[in-house]
Amino acid sequence: MEKEKIHIQFTLNGRDVSLDIPVKMTALQVIRDGVGLKGTKEGCGIGECGACTIEVNGKAINACLMFGVQLDGCDVITVEGLEKEGTLHPIQEKFLDHHGVQCGFCTPGVLMSTHALFKENPAPDDEDISNAVAGNLCRCTGYQQIFSSIKAAIPVNAVDDDSDMASRHDDKAMCQDSATERDTSMALNGTKKDKTEEAQHHG
Ligand code: FES
Ligand code: FES
Repeated sequence: MEKEKIHIQFTLNGRDVSLDIPVKMTALQVIRDGVGLKGTKEGCGIGECGACTIEVNGKAINACLMFGVQLDGCDVITVEGLEKEGTLHPIQEKFLDHHGVQCGFCTPGVLMSTHALFKENPAPDDEDISNAVAGNLCRCTGYQQIFSSIKAAIPVNAVDDDSDMASRHDDKAMCQDSATERDTSMALNGTKKDKTEEAQHHG
């Protein structure tokens, strides 16, 4: 018997998406399997690791904990939406400069948490940064490099012009209410080696 499907429409990285999805599909599955954007990763699948972090109406969200139907009417950004016309976002550049990337599996989630942080607070202090990425676990780079990368990106991001979400937030209030904001904890680091990978697509 065919599973019940629901039609959803949302904006993903500035483009309109229209899909019929199974009612139990997660937002992560919608993005990875429904749309085919593999930059957003699945780690734990239970809201513990932050690998699946996306931005929904300007807020960092664990996509594995959100139903796909909750994306309806939302404005969503994934790691693929950070670059502009082939140029990495300043946050991505700083992660490369400060060795914030090793295997890269956690990186899309960390980038999205950082992007959402800067949108809310263009001049975060150390505590703000720690809180923003507290739910993003990294098993190899070491948090000091990630922290340094985020701090280095602050002045760049302060003049970044892609923070045009605020005007759209009010229109998406219902969507945002339905989104599940994450509440996860931070683990300690592993080892570090030389910068190797780009801070974006690891499909
Ligand atoms: Fe979503 Fe781990 S895959 S928090
Ligand atoms: Fe490998 Fe974070 S898990 S860089």
